[in-house]
Amino acid sequence: MGRVTASAPGKCILFGEHAVVYGEPAVAVAIEQRISVTLESVQTGETPWKIDGMHFDSRKHPHVQALRNRLWQTSQGAPGITIQVNGDIPPASGLGSSAALSVAASAALRCARGRWYTSVDDLQNPATWAEGYASSIENLDVYTPENRELSSQQSKSSMEHYVHGKEVASLDECALLAHAVEAVAQAGRASPMDASTCAHGGVVLLSDAMEKDVEYLYTRRLKMEDGERTWHLHSVHMPNTTEDLYLVIGNTGVYAPTSNQVAKVAAAIAAKPERIREIQTIGVIARRGIQALKEGDFEAVGRAMSENQIMLQGLGVSCPELESLIRAAAPTSLGAKLTGAGGGGCMVALTRHPKQTSEAIELAGGRTLISKFGNAGLTVDECENMPLWSTGRE
Ligand code: MEV
Repeated sequence: MGRVTASAPGKCILFGEHAVVYGEPAVAVAIEQRISVTLESVQTGETPWKIDGMHFDSRKHPHVQALRNRLWQTSQGAPGITIQVNGDIPPASGLGSSAALSVAASAALRCARGRWYTSVDDLQNPATWAEGYASSIENLDVYTPENRELSSQQSKSSMEHYVHGKEVASLDECALLAHAVEAVAQAGRASPMDASTCAHGGVVLLSDAMEKDVEYLYTRRLKMEDGERTWHLHSVHMPNTTEDLYLVIGNTGVYAPTSNQVAKVAAAIAAKPERIREIQTIGVIARRGIQALKEGDFEAVGRAMSENQIMLQGLGVSCPELESLIRAAAPTSLGAKLTGAGGGGCMVALTRHPKQTSEAIELAGGRTLISKFGNAGLTVDECENMPLWSTGRE
């Protein structure tokens, strides 16, 4: 029986949440906690599409449904599959659980479906994809039944190749699809930060400019009701001096969906347009933090995190539970702030004393997770008897 498992990490934001939605710079770090998605072909006679042993309900799983619409269309003959989701990222807590799920699910679906190429010289070069999604392919709807038939007719003359399994997963494609899905969930206002960090892992920097001394990944654009945003994404390669650095995450247990918090900030700015200055100040702090990160000055990174928290508090996205955990972490950490959309969910402390910081947060009532600084991104962990569906040219 065919089976594929892909997994992706959650993320913590060091600086710039909310402001990044308005195009300001931000930095996020992949954490050790992950979500894994396993797809298996269904036994003949079984119900098509099951998730975690239950009938698939698109309202309960909007992210998976959105990916299904793009990559696994029943109307085009895609067969039923079963999905198993596992992991240790708490949902709706600001740790990127939905982005990690979307990234892992896109990779698993792509491996299970395979991909057509006009050349197999470079599997990761989107220019050779006969269908698919990537930053270098502008149109998100590149794959339609019409162009599939067209390329099907051309397949003999244009030397197309069909490849399936592990090697057809692309970080760019998974991050792009996950961003598109997040944008739908957040009523059109979502930065690519969560999606790209969960896909690429390590430390991801988003900026309104091309940054020096970091690896450029790609540029993303998204039209919002008040204008188009552009983000240049980069990977930051950290020096070895991060070995004794940890992120201690404190969960308030207060449920706080990102979409509500993003809408709250948008409403505050719409009511008082001059509040955009608070967003710009977060951008200034993030730029200072980014410079400190590039220089390996983690004391200054911590200071920028704590300054960022003061601005987030002013913006109205913190809450008493978060403040109490942040206060508890402060004496043993380099800096602490909420992470993600706020209003509940989690805070993060950057520390060289993870045990003490974690104990202090627990004493203040938080549940903690400890993570190294920067972790692996998307991985395809298992891939057997593929494809589960091949979009028929052979
Ligand atoms: C959520 O993890 C981060 C926000 O900045 C939203 C986004 O970037 O899309 C609040």
